[in-house]
Amino acid sequence: MHNVDLSVTLAGMTMKNPVVVASGTFGFGREYGEFYDLSELGGICAKGLTLHRREGNPGPRIAETPMGILNSVGLQNPGVDAFIATELPFLRQYDVKVIANISGNSPEEYGVMCEKLAEAGVDMIEVNISCPNVKAGGLAYGTRPELAAEVTEVAKAHAGQVPVMVKLSPNVTDITEIARAVEGAGADALSLINTLRGMRIDVNTRRPILKMNTGGMSGPAVLPVAVRMVWEVSNAVKIPVLGMGGVSKGEDAAQMMLAGATAVAVGTACFADPYAPLKVRDGLAEIAARQGLSAVSELTGGVKPW
Ligand SMILES: Cc1cc2nc3c(=O)[nH]c(=O)nc-3n(C[C@H](O)[C@H](O)[C@H](O)COP(=O)(O)O)c2cc1C
Repeated sequence: MHNVDLSVTLAGMTMKNPVVVASGTFGFGREYGEFYDLSELGGICAKGLTLHRREGNPGPRIAETPMGILNSVGLQNPGVDAFIATELPFLRQYDVKVIANISGNSPEEYGVMCEKLAEAGVDMIEVNISCPNVKAGGLAYGTRPELAAEVTEVAKAHAGQVPVMVKLSPNVTDITEIARAVEGAGADALSLINTLRGMRIDVNTRRPILKMNTGGMSGPAVLPVAVRMVWEVSNAVKIPVLGMGGVSKGEDAAQMMLAGATAVAVGTACFADPYAPLKVRDGLAEIAARQGLSAVSELTGGVKPW
């Protein structure tokens, strides 16, 4: 096919290609594994884990929007121990990097989960300080620099040799402020963006469509916001960035990388087309080949701002 080196290294973790699937949009890979070999992917960010299992929020918890969706799933998951016992061994059958995504109600909970996951041998821990759909913790950590730094420090102190990537919220006035605080606290990488808070209302019943009233928006409609934030953050910090938000084709991923991302994650696009991550990978390779690049990593940070 193309003679382009697709490999990238994110905070010391080398992936065969820069395409990861985003947390919460790929479960633990089992359903998608029925469509293709999961070893085709660069990495899998598993569904967000909490210390104890969670049922998530009541439905309706997904609503369509123009070129996107709103969700208020609320971190439904089996808990970190069940992940380690059942889901991690399943994922380890594949030649793919496994990134565990965690949310806590306190810095201590983040610490406990990091210790368990580091011991279990995940490739990276993604610390979610940006979930808009849970009442305790979640977004509060992601919108206040001092809290974001505290969670990062605790996570790093308990993660051993496993790199820690902190996932930033777009629901802030200045995302670079949080990014700098998290970098200063020792994070190895940043991922962004999580979902943007949104709302839809049924004009006849006058009820919000989502039972939780508001939810997090994702999908192609958020791509320009995400690219802008990846660009701002990449210019503000030295640690690498995993870019996500609205990526559904190779050109979107190339935009993310030109804006400064080392790798990209594909989320909502997987719902409409399970093959989207592979199409993103192939489209990216095609663009790099057309531009005469020998490695796709040459795209990173290559934007020429006016
Ligand atoms: C249904 C759904 C569930 C999600 N669950 C999580 C989660 O558990 N943890 C997390 O960090 N992000 C979660 N996200 C956010 C995605 O990982 C991603 O940051 C966001 O959707 C933007 O990317 P996209 O537009 O490609 O979907 C979820 C998103 C969706 C749509």
